[in-house]
Amino acid sequence: MASKWTLITGASEGFGVEFAKLAAAEGRDLILVARQAAKMEALAETLRARHKIAVEVMPADLSDPATVEALWRKVALRRHVDLVVNNAGLGYNGPFAGADFDREMASIMVNVLALSILTKRAVAHMLQQGGGRILNVASTSAFMPGPNMAVYHATKAYVLSLGEAVAEELRGTPVTLTTLCPGATATNFARDAKMEHVALFKALPVPSAARVAKSGWRAMQRGRRVKVTGALNWLFSVGPRFTPRNLVPRIAAVFLK
Ligand SMILES: NC(=O)c1ccc[n+]([C@@H]2O[C@H](COP(=O)([O-])OP(=O)(O)OC[C@H]3O[C@@H](n4cnc5c(N)ncnc54)[C@H](OP(=O)(O)O)[C@@H]3O)[C@@H](O)[C@H]2O)c1
Repeated sequence: MASKWTLITGASEGFGVEFAKLAAAEGRDLILVARQAAKMEALAETLRARHKIAVEVMPADLSDPATVEALWRKVALRRHVDLVVNNAGLGYNGPFAGADFDREMASIMVNVLALSILTKRAVAHMLQQGGGRILNVASTSAFMPGPNMAVYHATKAYVLSLGEAVAEELRGTPVTLTTLCPGATATNFARDAKMEHVALFKALPVPSAARVAKSGWRAMQRGRRVKVTGALNWLFSVGPRFTPRNLVPRIAAVFLK
């Protein structure tokens, strides 16, 4: 029980790899979770050699709630987990009427259900163990409905709402929950979500995953409740508050087509 562990989901690509590098640089022992085992094994080998830390790879499909519960039992059985990064997530760009339903369902299961299970288990575990930090990855999508990406935006609105409410419940305890809200970022997300062609990724500057992850990491270390990365994204996050409600999805649609 001596060492403290960091669990990172979605650790095979994009932000997850960057979070793993940041955690490793602090000498943290890591548990990496995603489906692509080979990519995580390669990352684990590099991080073990560079930082002399323990890294365990636990391949799992987080779209299955029973798998998520089993994963947590395995992770927390004999370990003190003092940092959980719920980063795994996916989206789909296309009209709701015709969108790939399986993929939309998978995004609800991973973005909402798996994140909720792991957040709930982690909060209880950390309160019992005397402290810890949780970093949940939402998106600027959380701040507005997203025509052509309706399900994804709804999942991220859930992540933000859950995070802010639980963070308030945790006030005065040694456990913090930070919700990170990045905007469009250079990872595999846009290709996987079939949205490389949309204005959000084509017309606006897109930062690197490393830069965004670092900013989220600092916010988590400071115990911030919500972190929106970048000035333009901050505008996206506050703009809807000052815009007539029926106009917000119309404006969002311009960026999502
Ligand atoms: N990039 C952006 O523009 C952007 C903006 C705002 C928010 N975000 C959010 O950032 C988070 C990370 O995304 P990213 O940009 O780094 O995209 P990414 O490069 O596509 O990485 C997504 C990660 O999620 C994992 N994942 C997806 N489905 C999974 C499943 N069923 N089970 C387990 N793991 C699964 C993937 O691993 P496997 O494929 O190996 O399973 C991968 O490691 C997501 O929550 C996303 O919504 C991204």
